[in-house]
Amino acid sequence: MKKAVVIGSLNLDYSISVARMPQPGETVAAESLTLNPGGKGANQAYALGRLGCKTAMIGAVGRDAAGERLLANLESAGVDCSGILRRDVPTGQAFIPVDQKGENAIIIVHGANETLSPADVEAHRALIEAADCVVMQLEIPLPTVLAAAKLAKSRGRTVILDPAPAPGELPEELLRLCDFIKPNETELSLLTGMPAGSRAECEAAAKTLLQKGVGTVLVSLGSRGALAVTPHGSVLMPPPKVKAVDSTSAGDTFTAAFVSRWDGGLEPALRYANAAAAIAVSRRGAQASIPSAAEVEDFIQ
Ligand code: RIB
Repeated sequence: MKKAVVIGSLNLDYSISVARMPQPGETVAAESLTLNPGGKGANQAYALGRLGCKTAMIGAVGRDAAGERLLANLESAGVDCSGILRRDVPTGQAFIPVDQKGENAIIIVHGANETLSPADVEAHRALIEAADCVVMQLEIPLPTVLAAAKLAKSRGRTVILDPAPAPGELPEELLRLCDFIKPNETELSLLTGMPAGSRAECEAAAKTLLQKGVGTVLVSLGSRGALAVTPHGSVLMPPPKVKAVDSTSAGDTFTAAFVSRWDGGLEPALRYANAAAAIAVSRRGAQASIPSAAEVEDFIQ
C-alpha cells in the first residue's frame, strides 16, 4: 500500500543486555544499557517510512526530551508527525531485558500514550481519509482503537491491527472491522482461548477470528516464519535463517513490511515481511534495527 497512517504508541526503550533473564526474586547485573526510540506504533510508522510508504502517525508524547527524540527519529524516516500530540504527561517508556539468545521481555509505562482519545482521532480524520490503510496496535486505549477502526472503515480504508499487547478477548465489534490482524502465537492463544502451538492449532484458532469477521489472520511464528489464514485456505512462509541478536520490534517490522508490499498477493508480501523481520532480529534495538527498502531488497537477492 502506498499511503499509511499509524495510530499508536511511542516509547523510549531502555534496552538492557543480560546474560540470562532473572528468575522471580533474583537480581542480575546488566552487561549494557542503551536508550532507543521504540513503541509498537512508532516502530511500525518508522518501518513503513524506511520501506518507502508515505506515512503519517497519530499518537501522543510528553513535553520532554524523550518525546523530542522520538519525533526526530520518525521524521528522519520521512514520517509526517503532525498528528502526534504533546501532553503534560511523561512520554511512554519501555524496559526491555534482552538475553544472549535475543529473547526479550517488555514492561511498558504507558505515560502519554494512555491519553490518546477518540476525540484526538476525530481531530485528525484528514490523515485517515488521506491514507489507503490504518495500522494500529493495543498500547493506546481500546476505545480509541475502536473509534479509529470505525472511522477508517466508514471511509473504505483497510484496517490492520497488531493485537499486542494482547488483552485476552477483543470485542467482536472491533474484530469485524479488521481486514488483517497480526498476532504472534501467544497473542493468538490469548485472543481465542485456544492452543496455538502447531500449525493445525494456529489454523483452528485463526478460523475462530475469521468467523468473527476478521478478513485475514497473519500469525508471526518467530523462527518458523509466518502463517496467513484466509477464508480460502492458509499459506505458511518459512523465514530466512539469521543469527538472532534482539527480537525487539521484529513483529512491528513484519507488520509494516507486509503492509508496505500488500497489493493482493499473500506470498510476495509474506516473503518480504519475513526478510525485513529477519534483518531486524539480527540487529540490536527497536527502530535502530529496522532496515530500509534497499537493505531488504539486497537481503532477498
Ligand atoms: O514491539 C516492541 C516495542 O514494544 C518496543 O519498542 C517497546 O517500546 C514496546 O512498545
